[in-house]
Amino acid sequence: MALYAEELRVPALSILDLLAMKQAGEKISCLTAYDASFSRLIDLAGVDMMLVGDSLGMVIQGKNTTVPVSIDEMVYHTQCVVNARQRAFVIADLPFLSYCTAGMAVQNAAKLMQTAGAQMVKLEGAHIDIIELLVEFGVPVCAHLGLLPQSINQLGRYKVQGKTEYDAEKIAEEAKKVEQAGASLLILECVPADLAKKISKSIDIPVIGIGAGVDCDGQVLVLYDMLGISLGKRPKFSQDFMQVAKDIPDAIQRYHQSVKQLEFPTSEQSY
Ligand code: KIV
Repeated sequence: MALYAEELRVPALSILDLLAMKQAGEKISCLTAYDASFSRLIDLAGVDMMLVGDSLGMVIQGKNTTVPVSIDEMVYHTQCVVNARQRAFVIADLPFLSYCTAGMAVQNAAKLMQTAGAQMVKLEGAHIDIIELLVEFGVPVCAHLGLLPQSINQLGRYKVQGKTEYDAEKIAEEAKKVEQAGASLLILECVPADLAKKISKSIDIPVIGIGAGVDCDGQVLVLYDMLGISLGKRPKFSQDFMQVAKDIPDAIQRYHQSVKQLEFPTSEQSY
């Protein structure tokens, strides 16, 4: 049928392309993006994925945490990013408390996908019932485990997760459960590198690390950390690529190449 002809395929990467990269052992590069201008630069550099993260609450809005970010703000920034991208796969965050009932999860995923044009939604924690429900209705889900920034008021401070045997086992089990529930991707934040390696090998879906060592299937960084312009202290797991680059496109290109060639993160940038 003409409708399904290969030439009518969406030009952007799909979840199948990301899965094929994991299977081929090619690292997946990802950066956060919040607006059209950076979206275009990231896309032109060949970065595989863009995450419209609720980190925008901190780096765009200057708030202390991601907690105050609203679904309408996520929709607005996702639209800005989608408007300018051609190739990169776009994921958008479901913000704090926007997916705590089945109805809210479906309604807010619809806003991110139908109104804003995201290809996948991300949610923090192993919320198995919610993941299964979204997947059943055709919403691709990226799970986020390890450090969960939306839970900062429970955690007290941002810190490495999975350091004890018990906690490591819990995260590894959750990773298997979110995969079984139908998640297509997993982001692992701030966990020991050996735990992230074990998890990446134990599940079939791509695992994208941030502060999780070089052995994940891909890497994501907050764009403004990577450009050295974030407010406050840059985390140990990040790198300011502007220190060696001639301009912003060059810094993004260097990040992309460093991920592909396993030069980022180094052991000093890992736990
Ligand atoms: O909101 C965000 O930018 C994120 C990344 C830290 C993974 O969730």
